[in-house]
Amino acid sequence: MIVGLGSLGSVLLELLAREEGIGEIVAAGRDERRGTARCNLARVGAMAQDRLPRVRFVRLDLSDIDGTAEIIARESADVVVSTASRETWWLSELLPSSARQAIGRARFGAWLPVHLALAIKFMQAVRAADYRGHTVIASFPDIVNVVLGRLGLAPTCGLGNLDEIVAKVRDVAASRLETSPRDVRVLLVAHHALEPFVFRNPAEPTHGSAPAEPEREPPPYWIRVELTGEDVTAQVDAAGVLFAPYPLPPGPAWHFLTAGSAVRLIRALVVDGGCLLHVPAPHGLPGGYPAVASRAGVSVANLAGLPAEEAVAINERSHRFDGVEQIERDGTTCFTAGTVAALRETLGYNVERLRPADCDDAADELLARFARYAAGHGVDVAAARAISRLVG
Ligand SMILES: NC(=O)c1ccc[n+]([C@@H]2O[C@H](COP(=O)([O-])OP(=O)(O)OC[C@H]3O[C@@H](n4cnc5c(N)ncnc54)[C@H](OP(=O)(O)O)[C@@H]3O)[C@@H](O)[C@H]2O)c1
Repeated sequence: MIVGLGSLGSVLLELLAREEGIGEIVAAGRDERRGTARCNLARVGAMAQDRLPRVRFVRLDLSDIDGTAEIIARESADVVVSTASRETWWLSELLPSSARQAIGRARFGAWLPVHLALAIKFMQAVRAADYRGHTVIASFPDIVNVVLGRLGLAPTCGLGNLDEIVAKVRDVAASRLETSPRDVRVLLVAHHALEPFVFRNPAEPTHGSAPAEPEREPPPYWIRVELTGEDVTAQVDAAGVLFAPYPLPPGPAWHFLTAGSAVRLIRALVVDGGCLLHVPAPHGLPGGYPAVASRAGVSVANLAGLPAEEAVAINERSHRFDGVEQIERDGTTCFTAGTVAALRETLGYNVERLRPADCDDAADELLARFARYAAGHGVDVAAARAISRLVG
């Protein structure tokens, strides 16, 4: 079951519909007309590709937690993935360079309420439904899932993020080693905050919201690269591989990468056995880890040479690079001084802490202020969103 049929949810639906052995796909969203059309497109497109998927739309609004719980209980899917969010992540990429840089200094964590608000409602509905299957959250899981964990609402895991980095590293390392990516295994402990450095492209805005300034230090990470089981981390210069230029298109085209990673995770979660892959924020842990996923669930992989506590510590230290100083025991998030200053200077928005209970109001205010900021720089956010709905 996919909850949220925006840009990422729709690409995920398309890719899943073309997979063999997935079973029935239930796509859930607020807009029945658009959702039904989306499901028809996924079905007929897959049929044109000689697949016969079962795809069905159900209407669901996360602001109705009881109604959502009823649907989740009734559908009883093996896996429920939420891609619902108050706003997408790439609108600031439309801004002219100087405005984009200025708001980018707030880091991605500044947008936390936008990504957290519906994640809380989704997990509240999951709990109210007494749903026992696997729950996967797409929205900024490296931090969102930690807050959810503090609220006793941790999902099974997140998707994308460090797994996207792993795909690039396998590709570049295989090319350097003159072998197939199939022979290359990568083990990575890293946070979402590493992505702007890995996918830095001087010519384009970077995934996240702003180009990473070259002089900035990347967040900590741990990596091991193996060739047919042998450690070649030093031989291949893993750090060089990690930060090697690898241009990707900006904006929603990125969702083909994220959804590709999500399909592999979903496949793993519906079969026995166990598949080694990478997930952000399993069971509310900060950042991302190598993990074994199967029908039985997700467990963080044991790493030779890196104790589990050190892996968590690496990701804890990385929060700051996404603008989050600390996540308190009750889920209240304290932003870094840099994020607070950048939000004040660009949006005139004064916020130092975010309590989970204030998430909806904070998302409203942040989005309204951003729309005014964007308009001041010649970008009509509502029009951009409408066009993305038309083409995405
Ligand atoms: N982890 C990763 O690697 C990764 C990569 C890319 C994106 N993401 C995250 O994925 C999320 C979605 O991104 P996107 O680009 O797909 O955003 P989007 O196009 O704006 O889609 C968000 C969807 O949420 C839906 N939604 C909003 N309120 C809802 C409600 N009350 N009930 C049910 N659905 C609701 C919207 O429905 P309507 O269409 O009815 O408005 C929309 O379809 C974001 O948080 C983004 O940061 C994560």
